[in-house]
Amino acid sequence: MRHLYCLLFALFACSCVRAQSPTFSFLTAEQNEFVAAELRRLTLKQKAGQMTQVAVDLVFEGQTYVLTVPPVFSDERLNHVIGEREIGSILNVPSRSIPTPAEYREYIGKIQEKAMQTTGVPVLYGQDAIHGANYVRGSTLYAQPLGVAASFNTELATELASLTAYELKAASIPWNFSPAMDAGRHPAWPRTWECFGEDTYVNQQFGLAALRGYQGDGVNGKNNVVACLKHFTGYGATASGHDRTPAYLPERQLREYYLPQFQAAIDSGALTVMINSGEINGIPVHTSKRLLTDILRDEMGFEGLLVSDWQDVRYLYERHHVANDLKEAVRMAIDAGMDMSMTAVTTDFPDVVVELVQEGQLTEGRIDTSVARVLAVKVALGLYEQHLWEPEEFPEFGGQRFARKAQQSAEEAIVLLKNDGLPLPIDPEQRILVVGPTADNMRSLNGGWTYSWQGQEADRYLQDHNTIREAIQKQFPGRVTYAPGATMDSLQDVATALSLARESDIIVLCLGESSYTEDPGNINSLVLPSVQRRLFDELHAVGKPIVLVMAAGRPRLMTSMANRSRAVLFAPYPGPYGGDAIASVLAGRVNPSGRLPLTYPRHPNALVSYDHKATEARNGGYNPLFEFGYGLSYTDFVYSDLRLSSRVMNPQDTLEVSLRVTNEGQRAGKHSILLYTSDLVASVTPSVQRLRKFTKVHLEPGENEVITFRLTPADIAFIGRDDRPTTEPGTFRISIGNLTEEFDFEAR
Ligand code: BGC
Repeated sequence: MRHLYCLLFALFACSCVRAQSPTFSFLTAEQNEFVAAELRRLTLKQKAGQMTQVAVDLVFEGQTYVLTVPPVFSDERLNHVIGEREIGSILNVPSRSIPTPAEYREYIGKIQEKAMQTTGVPVLYGQDAIHGANYVRGSTLYAQPLGVAASFNTELATELASLTAYELKAASIPWNFSPAMDAGRHPAWPRTWECFGEDTYVNQQFGLAALRGYQGDGVNGKNNVVACLKHFTGYGATASGHDRTPAYLPERQLREYYLPQFQAAIDSGALTVMINSGEINGIPVHTSKRLLTDILRDEMGFEGLLVSDWQDVRYLYERHHVANDLKEAVRMAIDAGMDMSMTAVTTDFPDVVVELVQEGQLTEGRIDTSVARVLAVKVALGLYEQHLWEPEEFPEFGGQRFARKAQQSAEEAIVLLKNDGLPLPIDPEQRILVVGPTADNMRSLNGGWTYSWQGQEADRYLQDHNTIREAIQKQFPGRVTYAPGATMDSLQDVATALSLARESDIIVLCLGESSYTEDPGNINSLVLPSVQRRLFDELHAVGKPIVLVMAAGRPRLMTSMANRSRAVLFAPYPGPYGGDAIASVLAGRVNPSGRLPLTYPRHPNALVSYDHKATEARNGGYNPLFEFGYGLSYTDFVYSDLRLSSRVMNPQDTLEVSLRVTNEGQRAGKHSILLYTSDLVASVTPSVQRLRKFTKVHLEPGENEVITFRLTPADIAFIGRDDRPTTEPGTFRISIGNLTEEFDFEAR
């Protein structure tokens, strides 16, 4: 295909009329020329097609989401979508199916063949592979992002993303709508678990780690895919806690919490970004020129492809009521800066674009800018040369190496929140009752985007994996009885559960949530449903020690139950190996090392994050059940010798912060060390603390390690009164565990 570039290059080099085309720093000069040549070659209609993305259901028999089982590919529909409409991008999985890599290879092959015959431009195929290639049969699934964040292990996050990329490529899918770097600031938000928790820095670090894994050293690598940062921006700032509901973000908040993670990933070469479906300050983000062009492009320097979220152009008039009709909506979104419309279920978008240009409401130059970005990503991926991969070239697909990482991700996701009087690890001689609505299903361990959007098929596809009940029965053979006690909606044969409880020494009570995402996951109360509370009360009355396992995607309130339990584990969707991981922690085969990537609230009306202001903490305002960063181990990690390389930091300085971590307990273990800073006095009320660095170590009993963090002035900057990043002279406190030291920043 290289010769095709050269030929086109030569042809157009001779032409005296040279159309203006954007150039991309991530492409070579030759590739930029190729993009320019493609722009000159394509018709307006074809360009409009390049700006369109539809669901793959549209090339199968049936209707979106109600395809026949098994899905039947339709040549006629392919001819419509690719042959006639000349659409340039496809997403998703054929609904109600989970194709194997070979099946993907076959139908994507037909799509690509048609595209190459029609426009000569390969299709860009994208999917949400957010915890492994979760729409590819036989692939490996990992902990969900919130669970990965709980590991505080960014190396692991990179490995998981790179394995995900491998298994996507095995299915000829080169574009992944991940990572979500939203920073979920409302604990009830049904997508809290899809991002890396409440903290901007954690979202940034894990987003960068995932980006490294997906894109590798270059997106055209055989085992790499293009990442898609989402959802730009402020999606996790919903005021109500319901999905796609308004956020109100003053400039300072926007810049402090919702831009830095995207900026870092753009600087690290992220090639695509997805737009937040919601509205900020009354402006649907899909119509915000300020966010999508002035800030994202001009200020943050994003050069790549900006894709809408699902049907969001249509929603501008159907839901947001800022446009009268589709035409006005399309114009608004393109004016704002969108390059590709995830039109999803209809094929009308290209026609509207053409009409708008013909009527002079949009210029062809504006269309060219977006199409160039679409083509640039296709060129960067090398899709013109290769757009299909043979499954046999990915011999490790679904293999042991991947499974081991999945298991590690589950183990490091588990957070031990309480272990009073050390009931854990459970003595193997004890008789254990396993009970509760999350004890015996895979949905509560895997969450949404697991073989389907809402994850409701998890039990069917993950039969080979152990639920919590199965795993505990395997870890403690002959010692375990089980009764569900309740479903998610109602109590179920509590009498049996109670009589088994009376015959047991310890009760492992598994509560929490099923799988969900987006609107279907909205809740009107963070309080755990009354069915679960009643089950707890009944079992508690038996008087046996309770180990509470909270398997959930967000911090469902459990205050009184946690207080009455001897031990509490939080399992934030640890994935298919979650049951094994929980059982291994209970048995002491795994020493828990997860830490909370969010604040676990105590009360329904006190949803205050860890980086709150001092005034929010007055009069008991900040008194979470468990703090951000909290997590216990079976061994004792002791900090000592906190030292700063200087007591003074100047603008050009790097301050070294070192400390010794010693495993003073009897067991080997992993442990994350979290460094916070506090700005003692600032011109904008400072947060009481901000997480600035973290790292994870593994220490044998008696072993110690000296850790060194490096802080620069950027690490202690904040968004000032002028809404710009600023560092002010003053005293800063560094806290790591119970150790603190102070230094002065001097603006010399
Ligand atoms: C979600 C996105 C996702 C897209 C494509 C939308 O409903 O908000 O996160 O990438 O669907 O599946």
